Amino acid sequence: MKRMLHRLAAAGVALVTIACSPDTSVTSPDGRIRTAISLDRDGVPAWQLEVDGTPLIVRSRLGLEADVANLASGFSIVGVERNRCDETWTQPWGENKELRDRHHELAVRLQNPEGVLLVLRVRVFDDGLGFRYEYRTPADSLCITDEHTAFAFAQDGLSWSIDGNYDTYELPYRKLPVSGVERANTPFTFRIGALYGSIHEAALYDYPEMHLLRQDSLVFKAELAPLPDGVKARLGGCFTTPWRTLQIGDRAVDLINSSLILNLNEPSKIADTSWIRPQKYVGVWWGMHLGTQVWTMGPRHGATTGNALRHIDFAAANNIQGVLFEGWNRGWESWGRDQRFDYVEPYADFDLERIAAYAAGKGVELWMHNETGGNIPDYEANMERAMKRYAELGIHTLKTGYAGGFREGYSHHSQYGVQHYQRVVELAARYRIMLDVHEPIKETGIRRTWPNMMTREGARGMEWNAWSEGNSSEYLCTLPFVRLLSGPMDYTPGIFDIYYERAKADPGRIQWNGDNSQCSVKTTLARQIANWVIIYSPLQMAADLIENYEGHPAFRFFRDFDPDSDWSEALQGEIGEYIVVARRAGDRYFLGAGTNSEARSLVQPLGFLKPGITYTARIYADDPTSPLRTAYRIEECRLTAADSLRIGMAPDGGCAVTFEPLAE
Ligand code: NOJ
Ligand code: CA
Repeated sequence: MKRMLHRLAAAGVALVTIACSPDTSVTSPDGRIRTAISLDRDGVPAWQLEVDGTPLIVRSRLGLEADVANLASGFSIVGVERNRCDETWTQPWGENKELRDRHHELAVRLQNPEGVLLVLRVRVFDDGLGFRYEYRTPADSLCITDEHTAFAFAQDGLSWSIDGNYDTYELPYRKLPVSGVERANTPFTFRIGALYGSIHEAALYDYPEMHLLRQDSLVFKAELAPLPDGVKARLGGCFTTPWRTLQIGDRAVDLINSSLILNLNEPSKIADTSWIRPQKYVGVWWGMHLGTQVWTMGPRHGATTGNALRHIDFAAANNIQGVLFEGWNRGWESWGRDQRFDYVEPYADFDLERIAAYAAGKGVELWMHNETGGNIPDYEANMERAMKRYAELGIHTLKTGYAGGFREGYSHHSQYGVQHYQRVVELAARYRIMLDVHEPIKETGIRRTWPNMMTREGARGMEWNAWSEGNSSEYLCTLPFVRLLSGPMDYTPGIFDIYYERAKADPGRIQWNGDNSQCSVKTTLARQIANWVIIYSPLQMAADLIENYEGHPAFRFFRDFDPDSDWSEALQGEIGEYIVVARRAGDRYFLGAGTNSEARSLVQPLGFLKPGITYTARIYADDPTSPLRTAYRIEECRLTAADSLRIGMAPDGGCAVTFEPLAE
């Protein structure tokens, strides 16, 4: 009897425990992804995740560390809330104008004896999850000293990432076993078993960026870019962090087609977005990187009035909306020295007012360029005066740049940097200015909330081909699956003079990084065209010298191209190997395909075209009869949604297609 009572008591305790511990798991709408929050005996929170019943992330720590509040432990669960969302929303521009946000939300409310309240908010979508911390502490302000968020992979796999660096993303990709990565920036893309995934973050404001730092063979923790004194972030006592995200797909291209990052950002804060419009552009830019022109005034000055007018004429004649001139403003002599640029005064040989009026008369938009050299205090002191002036001149687009170290030990990717980049976005919105940011902070989907934040660099762009070993076709086949998962990139594609014949003919050419004589573009010309489609950017540049486009039959592609996509889909691809992307703008479609150093033949069904319509397909392809990367052919045929296209690509090659509905 006594034994029986004991047993019942034991069972009773167990029953009470079960009855009192709320369900803290949540499943994706399709039921495939399940994640759960738990606490250990010290009240330290953790998460885990499985896909189709198989663990992908095993129990991994959560929480932050601060100086004056216990944000890490002693928690007990004081409530659980659930929510479901299934809504379709639209954006003024993007790969897709219409997006579906379908997720299940779990909010676990935690409290510890020190009076710290923590809401762990988790959203699970069919294509992954995001979670974030919402802290309410008794402190007025605090210093974050560490983030404990961990990602403990259940098994090893392959990964693609760049090294973790607090000042640059312009680094080569590394393809490594997950267990072989010491430190990585995000997006951190992997294949584990049959699944593809990518870790990143969403809605990064007033907080440092996150790296992944290996703690144990398959365990990574969030590492935050520090401020000069080692503190990671200075925050008020009540704060919300960015989302930590994990995208998941069965195919590598599912990661590209996911809108999880945008879904985790807030709707637009700009009410009237009528002035925010995708554009194609050309500019005085490549000549400087090739070393045939310079940013400063003198005989090789690129941004002269004559050159500007010539570019405006070219843009007007070729269905190109914007023109960019680098080196138009005084101060370039200080680049790499004390970095003091004048953001208002043009050089004497650049008649800004005349150029602005000429551009307006031709219906072309004049862009401005602000290189800051990383001198943030100087830029912040002058940027409003500059933007005011640009608004007066009818200028709506600004390329900014941060080529240079920040002062006083601040890094580009720290909370200080994040705050600065955001101040520029918000100020630009006030002056109705769209931004193209080079040497930026990584994109985390804030373009949804601030749709004037159009595009950014944030990876090795075209410039690297001018003065380094260059960007290989394997790099270009990796980019869409890693950096581009975070958002648009101003790669500046489209060099037609692949071997730099024009620059090589110039005996006075400047050599930027030692000997540039062996530099060239590492792909075929057809691939350069395809990159206009593959590398999504609402501001898309034809980056070559305009004299290399004049009279070139293949430039028709850019003339016809519309960067204002309504719909996009990555159709097939493998990381580092090949990629095929299609986009629709109005009733026309554009397709871009690219391969790595292997020649490839792909069959692409055209089921994405509108059924019942016959399209004129203009195909820009590699010429297999020539070993030259400049060799291309253009073919025309009629195709429908019922057809398939055979895409033949040379090593480092590509293929681009325009589909125009045939007039009835
Ligand atoms: C680096 C940028 O990426 C490039 O586009 C620009 O020409 C130089 N900085 C000078 O601003
Ligand atoms: Ca750059």
